[in-house]
Amino acid sequence: MTMQGLSTSVLNAIYHRRSIRAYAAREVDEDTLQQLLKAAVQAPTARHAEPWAFVVIQDAALLEHISDITKAGLLRRAEGDANALGVFAAPEFNIFYDAGTLILICGRTQTPFVAADCWLAAENLMLAAHAMDLGSCVIGSAVDALNGELKEELGITADFTVHAPVIVGYPREEATTSPRKPPLLLKHIKAAGAA
Ligand SMILES: Cc1cc2nc3c(=O)[nH]c(=O)nc-3n(C[C@H](O)[C@H](O)[C@H](O)COP(=O)(O)O)c2cc1C
Repeated sequence: MTMQGLSTSVLNAIYHRRSIRAYAAREVDEDTLQQLLKAAVQAPTARHAEPWAFVVIQDAALLEHISDITKAGLLRRAEGDANALGVFAAPEFNIFYDAGTLILICGRTQTPFVAADCWLAAENLMLAAHAMDLGSCVIGSAVDALNGELKEELGITADFTVHAPVIVGYPREEATTSPRKPPLLLKHIKAAGAA
């Protein structure tokens, strides 16, 4: 691929990636997973710390269990929020939208800028997924439970914190549009006399 073609495909992924919330049964295979993780670790990383580590879960029963525990925690905290109560109380609602693959991007606790590094890795992973015809979605609602009651059960040691849970899978339907406001430019400061 030429450099021009490469940059066009990067822009294409940036503009067309959307959060996907309906997945086909087709499993993400090992080779594809490895490509996603390799793309994730190309992200910029402060002081070249590379503080990330990954947990990959491809077990429908475990994903449902994580969803149920998360929903119970969210319900406890959603007191008074009728909308949230309605969504999280529905037994059929799976916070992972029945995706077959959940990737937890974890960061080594105490590393400076660890959250930034992990989220940059997450965006890389999601853009790579889009380029490979996969859908993805961040599931931030699971972070508290993953770092709380589920952490030990998942074998995540104390020296790591889950930052970015991302589901991945083959989309079952077209993504809905998700328009953005124009960038809010607070200032554009130029040197005096510059064009
Ligand atoms: C930090 C973070 C947490 C998110 N958590 C959830 C979530 O728990 N569940 C969900 O369905 N989407 C979640 N999303 C996806 C956003 O809703 C989505 O990115 C936003 O609506 C813009 O849509 P787009 O990704 O299709 O452009 C999260 C996104 C981010 C960045």
